[in-house]
Amino acid sequence: MQQPLRARIAAFGSAFPDKVLTNADLEKIVDTSDQWITERTGIRERRVLSEGETNSDIAVKACRIAIERAGINVEDVDLIIGCTTTPDRWMPSLGATIQGKLGAVKCTAAYDVMSACAGWMTGLQIAESFVRTGHYKNVLVVGAEALSRFVNWKDRTTCVLFGDGASASLVQPCQPGDPGEILELRVRADGRFGDHLDMLGGGSQFPPTVESVAAGHQYIRMNGQEIYKHAVRNMASICEEVLAAQGKTISDVNWFVPHQANMRIIETVGKKINIPLERVALNVHKYGNTSAATVPTCFDEYIENGKIKRGDLVLMTTFGGGLSWAGGLIRW
Ligand code: ACO
Repeated sequence: MQQPLRARIAAFGSAFPDKVLTNADLEKIVDTSDQWITERTGIRERRVLSEGETNSDIAVKACRIAIERAGINVEDVDLIIGCTTTPDRWMPSLGATIQGKLGAVKCTAAYDVMSACAGWMTGLQIAESFVRTGHYKNVLVVGAEALSRFVNWKDRTTCVLFGDGASASLVQPCQPGDPGEILELRVRADGRFGDHLDMLGGGSQFPPTVESVAAGHQYIRMNGQEIYKHAVRNMASICEEVLAAQGKTISDVNWFVPHQANMRIIETVGKKINIPLERVALNVHKYGNTSAATVPTCFDEYIENGKIKRGDLVLMTTFGGGLSWAGGLIRW
């Protein structure tokens, strides 16, 4: 039997919680200002889960949209990869939780990839490899985060940055040149610098105890300036690497979809790789940093608003905890 040669993203679907938290709302919670947040990050508001709402609730909504847009049935899905650092529970996986809620009963496997902000692009690389070797035909790669549940709402240096959101992409086999083809995907990590961005507690090193919770070990901690430096350097270099691997230059790129963490990081990376802001997809002002969900939600939004068109060459990059980062090229 001839193996499929390539993999493509057939469709995206995204979902956010309804609850909006603006910078003005944050001014009432911590010592911050709309001006500080906007100038330093570009973020104006973010979405947060309501009480009782879960990561998998929004993830399943995103999956249903992707399945419908791809024109398949739930029963056709044969693998679900949950990409998250904030699953509903540590066990079962978010992937399996999504499978159960979706009723994807014929799905043979469901599990998680945990690689912080690089999660979705890492899951996409796994899906691409499985599809190209013929293991699976309809893979849901779901970047979904409930970061509001792990943010210290008393820490102004982190709580203004993050939000909740989910995006699912349906990956299928394809022939070279088919729409949505994944041309290149490269994933990198450097665990030597992992302490710059972490969640110390709740794992096996510091299991949740009254003391660890009282000390706030469950919250996201970040050395912002170090992360900034590593992010800019690595995002720019992986973009250059994936372009060179495909024999392309930045002038061939129609749209750049970077990780939506911070407007200043995006602008600096854009300058380094020499792409004007008019060709940069942005939604950080509306959603903040949704970690594994930023790149697919932004990609999806720009398809839906008609800016990313069929045939466009789309360059993507992301960076986050691990440290981990990735770059990719898609011919939409
Ligand atoms: N509101 C008001 N003041 C604040 C706030 C806030 N929310 N947060 C920090 N400050 C204060 C600090 O206390 C400090 O005050 P001081 O000078 O009196 O000590 C001052 O602002 C400057 O603080 P810095 O940390 O030096 O601010 P910086 O200019 O570095 O901006 C930021 C902080 C936005 C986090 C920046 O370091 C950054 O962009 N880092 C990248 C990290 C990032 O985006 N992480 C997201 C997750 S990782 C990822 O996805 C890539």
